[in-house]
Amino acid sequence: MKSAASSLEIESTSARITRRAEALSLRLRAVGERAFPPTAQKSLRSFSSGEVAQIVGVSDGYLRQLSIDGLGPAPDVSSSGRRSYTLEQVNELREYLATARPKEALRFWPRRRDGDKLQVITVANFKGGSAKTTTSLYLAQGLALQGYRVLAIDLDPQASLSAMFGLQPEFDIAENATLYGAIRYDEVRVPMREVVRSTYFPGISIVPGNLELMEFEHQTPRHMMETRGRPEELFFRRVARAIAEVDDDYDVVVIDCPPQLGFLTMGALNAATGMIVTVHPQMVDVASMSQFLLMTSDLIAVIEDAGGRLDYDFLRFLVTRHDPRDVPEQEIVALMRDVFDSDVLAATAWKSTAIANAGLTKQSLYELSRGSVGRSVYDRAMESIAGVNEEIIALIGAVWGRGK
Ligand SMILES: Nc1ncnc2c1ncn2[C@@H]1O[C@H](COP(=O)(O)OP(=O)(O)OP(=O)(O)O)[C@@H](O)[C@H]1O
Ligand SMILES: [Mg+2]
Repeated sequence: MKSAASSLEIESTSARITRRAEALSLRLRAVGERAFPPTAQKSLRSFSSGEVAQIVGVSDGYLRQLSIDGLGPAPDVSSSGRRSYTLEQVNELREYLATARPKEALRFWPRRRDGDKLQVITVANFKGGSAKTTTSLYLAQGLALQGYRVLAIDLDPQASLSAMFGLQPEFDIAENATLYGAIRYDEVRVPMREVVRSTYFPGISIVPGNLELMEFEHQTPRHMMETRGRPEELFFRRVARAIAEVDDDYDVVVIDCPPQLGFLTMGALNAATGMIVTVHPQMVDVASMSQFLLMTSDLIAVIEDAGGRLDYDFLRFLVTRHDPRDVPEQEIVALMRDVFDSDVLAATAWKSTAIANAGLTKQSLYELSRGSVGRSVYDRAMESIAGVNEEIIALIGAVWGRGK
């Protein structure tokens, strides 16, 4: 008894914190495994013909006719005659329609064409909990559903986005398997393709995150000292350079930023072609956003002074976790629209218990059936997500010179 007490007394502070961290990690692992056993494979659900008609933008009747005529993919037909499609089949259908109706090819198959610039969309705000990760997740998934090839990059050491794709940062992501592996300064650096992995969601690849990303924050000051006067070595170019290695493989890159303006975020700001600033409409959040904007503009000035060019095709504010019936929130949204004008997306991400609950079990609504969530709650959440995505997709289309 006595010896145990004295051994605790002589335990160093760092050892004590480590011991606490390990105990917590073990407990969290147990909780996580109960909620979502590691053996459970994530899987994307299939889509009803009604949903597919909506996603692709044709009528349900036309889809039925195609399937009767044996044209396009062959959906699964249940005993009650309901047709359902996998996302791979939705993409096959897109390809079929683009060929069969060439005048509308771009609408059905909207991927980048020659000369279209890779879109790199950075979702940022240093305010924690402003729904950066949720926005990144549903943007990536919404884009993939529309047939775009998407690379999601988890730039947050907390790795929430990776977790949403079924990757546990502590257990599934080995050393040098995050973006840090591709941007590190030493000879252990690996090509970007080595840190990209496929996901359960066809059309989306991910570069996962974990605590290793913090190394970039630690190593950068030293690197800056060592490479003074060599602008090609500037740290903030490294994220863009890594992305450039896989430029041909994707249409859109979505970067989920950590809630701070560190060197990683600066790298993402420099790599971005478009930026979405997520804002939860509460007075404290809006006040801190003003700080965020001032600091961001300072950082961008630093990058520009160093010869970096930041030419965003768009920068938009997105109101998140919004309860449109809440009067104080209405006032704050009105204030934002007044100050930022058309830079605030018209669509807002509505607060939804379906989104919150799915997030708790690290799942996306696309893994869950409507029935398991409650149809009206599910549909409302999806409507809100689709509204936001549609506007962002229109911004991308505009950059690629495509009209409405
Ligand atoms: N539309 C929404 N409706 C309800 N809950 C939401 C919505 N969007 C996000 N949330 C919840 O709010 C919390 C914070 O969201 P999220 O993790 O996306 O924020 P974040 O900005 O990435 O946070 P951090 O700064 O920690 O990275 C999560 O629990 C998430 O499930
Ligand atoms: Mg996050």
